Amino acid sequence: MVRSRIFFQCHRPPRQDCSSALNCGPSWSSLLQRQRDNESNQKPKETMEAAGKSVCVTGAGGFIASWLVKLLLSRGQYAVRGTVRDPGASKNAHLKALEGAGERLQLLKADLLDYNSVASAIAGCEGVFHVASPVPSGRSSNPEVEVIGPALTGTTNVLKACYEAKVRRVVVVSSCAAVFANPNWPKGKVFDEDCWSDEDYCRKNEDWYFLSKTLAERGAFAYAAKTGLDVVTICPSYVFGPLMQPIVNSSSKVILNYFKGNLETVENRLRNMVDVRDVADALLLAYENSEASGRYISSSHPIKVSDMINILKTLYPTYHYPKNFVEVDDYSVFSSKKLQKLGWTFRPIEEILRDTVESYKAFGILN
Ligand SMILES: NC(=O)c1ccc[n+]([C@@H]2O[C@H](COP(=O)([O-])OP(=O)(O)OC[C@H]3O[C@@H](n4cnc5c(N)ncnc54)[C@H](OP(=O)(O)O)[C@@H]3O)[C@@H](O)[C@H]2O)c1
Repeated sequence: MVRSRIFFQCHRPPRQDCSSALNCGPSWSSLLQRQRDNESNQKPKETMEAAGKSVCVTGAGGFIASWLVKLLLSRGQYAVRGTVRDPGASKNAHLKALEGAGERLQLLKADLLDYNSVASAIAGCEGVFHVASPVPSGRSSNPEVEVIGPALTGTTNVLKACYEAKVRRVVVVSSCAAVFANPNWPKGKVFDEDCWSDEDYCRKNEDWYFLSKTLAERGAFAYAAKTGLDVVTICPSYVFGPLMQPIVNSSSKVILNYFKGNLETVENRLRNMVDVRDVADALLLAYENSEASGRYISSSHPIKVSDMINILKTLYPTYHYPKNFVEVDDYSVFSSKKLQKLGWTFRPIEEILRDTVESYKAFGILN
């Protein structure tokens, strides 16, 4: 079991010794490469500045981030810098087609593990939405490298860059995975923002994704406490809803699996879910509302898997759904009262499921 801990560095990075130009900063070839990568998406600086307040969204091409970018562009007053690992990849093309993207969206190449790339995307931004983090579909064979490391180092790099750039507020996407994995929380008690997943419990169960989100969120608040950086976190439950990106992300696979016809029997868990568009709303609300602080759970009403499948059957009767349900002792319910007090609302489950399936049909992934 991997036991090593990666700690957040809560100080400014040491100034580099630039007495030797050869040892200072990235090489010319990497700078030229970076320039080439960025060129195709580079908007004239004046156009971006005229577009309004600059905000950065990390991992812009992902499921949640795509909807956030769309929301920000729709507001008209934001110039959006979206970081992606490969600006030229077809999986990010949907971003360039968004309304307002031509004038107000810049895609910048950045890897969470490369501080310089993250810092240059964030420099000059008033706000940052840190969304990118590995979300594995199954068990990782090397969790430290594939999941925990990028989540932690990525968050450290983003926060350090925000501090250096004097960003007004950073909204970090955490997860209910950082909330509920705690055996000491009283059974049956609704989970709220006071509950944190237990790191040792996550390690014992080898729940590496849970551990990555817990360490990253705790680290973010520790960094905020030491530096005074304004950090707010959003903890969504299972995120469903329509896809914008052509790649099926991990949480969407959960619903897709119900359509495959090869799941005869499923556990009748209580699913806490939230629509991706409502998560985007929550992120923007947490950014714009000056009173927002701390962490916020973002989840709609919970529903049993059997009830969810009944809704799907009613809406789309021709697919082959699971037939048998095994009852399990899982009554985790999350409260989003704190977020609702800020003004957040969420869609009904029927609408989430219908729009999700319609988008799968539009992408042709149910065939
Ligand atoms: N979906 C859910 O049910 C759910 C629930 C709670 C919280 N969350 C959180 O929401 C966030 C987004 O998740 P999602 O569901 O939208 O998943 P997603 O579509 O897989 O998006 C993850 C994003 O992270 C980026 N990323 C991963 N490692 C990176 C690295 N080393 N450098 C740069 N970018 C990196 C990916 O970029 P590439 O495209 O280059 O791989 C991708 O854009 C994550 O923080 C996740 O933990 C998701």
